[in-house]
Amino acid sequence: MNQCNPQAQSDIWSDWLLHTRHADDPLQEQNLRARLQQYADRVLDGAELFTGMTLADIGTGDGLIGFRAIERFGPFLRVLMTDISAPLLGHTEAVARLNGIVEQCTFLQRSAESLDGVEGASVDAVATRAVLAYVADKAAALREFHRILKPGGRLSIAEPIMRDDAIEACSLRKMVEGMPDKAGDNFFHLLHRWKAAQFPDTEEKMSTNPIANYGERDLVRFALEAGFTDVHMEFHIDVRPTEFNSWPVLLDTSPHPLAPTLGEILAEKFTEDERRFFESVYRPQVESRLLLTAERTAYLTAVKARR
Ligand SMILES: C[S@@+](CC[C@H](N)C(=O)[O-])C[C@H]1O[C@@H](n2cnc3c(N)ncnc32)[C@H](O)[C@@H]1O
Repeated sequence: MNQCNPQAQSDIWSDWLLHTRHADDPLQEQNLRARLQQYADRVLDGAELFTGMTLADIGTGDGLIGFRAIERFGPFLRVLMTDISAPLLGHTEAVARLNGIVEQCTFLQRSAESLDGVEGASVDAVATRAVLAYVADKAAALREFHRILKPGGRLSIAEPIMRDDAIEACSLRKMVEGMPDKAGDNFFHLLHRWKAAQFPDTEEKMSTNPIANYGERDLVRFALEAGFTDVHMEFHIDVRPTEFNSWPVLLDTSPHPLAPTLGEILAEKFTEDERRFFESVYRPQVESRLLLTAERTAYLTAVKARR
């Protein structure tokens, strides 16, 4: 498995997007798809597209934003779909071909920070969802979005803000540092081990990890520094019962493409006794639907000034 190898059939991005995020569970996938469509529509509303325009969907993944745009704005919309993942671009192009819309789409393997090959002032709107979290130089990405937009063009972003997950992992670490764990039966030690395998758990690790070293205000700052005007940010926090009510499904999922699954963490970082104890405490809570999930999403829109 390679992070970005043009010959690879799969990579961490395609594995997560096409499998791990729903653990290949049909019900989970159906619920997820319904929620994803809402995000896509919100991002597209922010882009204010019209038929005949060109949209750049940056970090398109399996085409969530681009395909939904074609569904909504019809056969004269053109969509440039970029991603760093060759397997995902291959998958998405195959889906476009199957659905008879490939002529409307252009596929380009590029990092969001460097969209060379895309002409300046060549697209009417830039949309991106859940991509900047994985981009090391977010300010550079915003500068590229500004460069490729026509004057008057719109930027619309939806980005998960995972900093609070990291802050929770940091708090857990601080809490367990003062707690004895001689018998391996302190639940909070095990909870910390799990969370620390998925999110940075020190301030130092947070500051260098692209998933946790920014917040919604930084996105506003990056947009302003890149030269955008009319910048609007809405930060949503949604707390609801977790969708994972099945233990086997929970074991096979992870919260983002760079995180191992809970099953992998239990296998690699827990002893047999610790696994048994952890499951005896946590599994009943999962199955009784008592757990809540907090989702934090930053929605940003902005305009490239007409000079
Ligand atoms: C969580 S997925 C989101 C995919 C899609 N935008 C969606 O909303 O379903 C993250 C995507 O970002 C892509 N990606 C990761 N790092 C990137 C980078 N530096 N530049 C462009 N795309 C990147 C991955 O390949 C993956 O397709």
